[in-house]
Amino acid sequence: MPRRYVMCPPRHFAVDYAINPWMDPNAPVDPALALRQWGELRDTYRRLGHLVDEVEPQPGLPDMVFAANSGTVVDGRVLGSRFATRERAAEAEHFRRWFVENGFRDVTMPREVNEAEGDFAWTGRVLLAGTGFRTDPRAHAEAQEVLGVPVVSLKLLDPRYYHLDTALFVLSEATDDRAAHVAYYPEAFSPGSRRALERLFPDAVLADAADASCLGLNAVSDGRNVVLPVEAGALAEKVAAHGYEPVFVDISELRKAGGGPKCCTMEIRK
Ligand code: ARG
Repeated sequence: MPRRYVMCPPRHFAVDYAINPWMDPNAPVDPALALRQWGELRDTYRRLGHLVDEVEPQPGLPDMVFAANSGTVVDGRVLGSRFATRERAAEAEHFRRWFVENGFRDVTMPREVNEAEGDFAWTGRVLLAGTGFRTDPRAHAEAQEVLGVPVVSLKLLDPRYYHLDTALFVLSEATDDRAAHVAYYPEAFSPGSRRALERLFPDAVLADAADASCLGLNAVSDGRNVVLPVEAGALAEKVAAHGYEPVFVDISELRKAGGGPKCCTMEIRK
């Protein structure tokens, strides 16, 4: 079951501003290394048999490499994004155009602020939706209307884990006879959201502070292979114990902007 991903090469990558606690505009960044690491991530997906489309990066939009923030696609329906920060606002239109030019007929641009798969995670049955830092809770109801899927709101508390995809990922989607399987870092969530997660996913893989602090939860699973940062060795062992195949990538340069493998990867679900 090949997956289809959309990525954007970091040809204009930089850390010129700070919109999350990981970003330090005074710390050195190696753009050539960022591009190489990104290329290895893309090639990893292709080696695993997945399809990767590329969107043309734009000068002046250094975070555009984080394609996950620019669209949520379920059943071929597209909900575009609306960024919380003015630094990234213009990215949304470039991706909207990409969707239209690539044959997506059902593309809706949102009224409310939503940073797409940064805060939306599809489990196969419901859309988990984060809020607290970027995506407006009103966008959760909007996503339900536009995509026609049930939405479960989750509240994030820790500014280092400002997007849902820094604190949770879906290991395998729900099927007719099996519930979805997820991994998450409980401490990133409000008490009520933690209880909701425990009810929904009693057999989840629970990550600890070390797993989270290398952005280990910013992982991409195809239901079998789990692509995650090379520093996330302990988390890799936990997912391996559940029968998944960890696949390590070095994404250290892009982490300086607060991103990992998942942030670079938007999934197209047709
Ligand atoms: N510098 C980017 C921002 O703060 C990083 C985005 C990471 N993307 C993600 N899906 N978590 O918006």
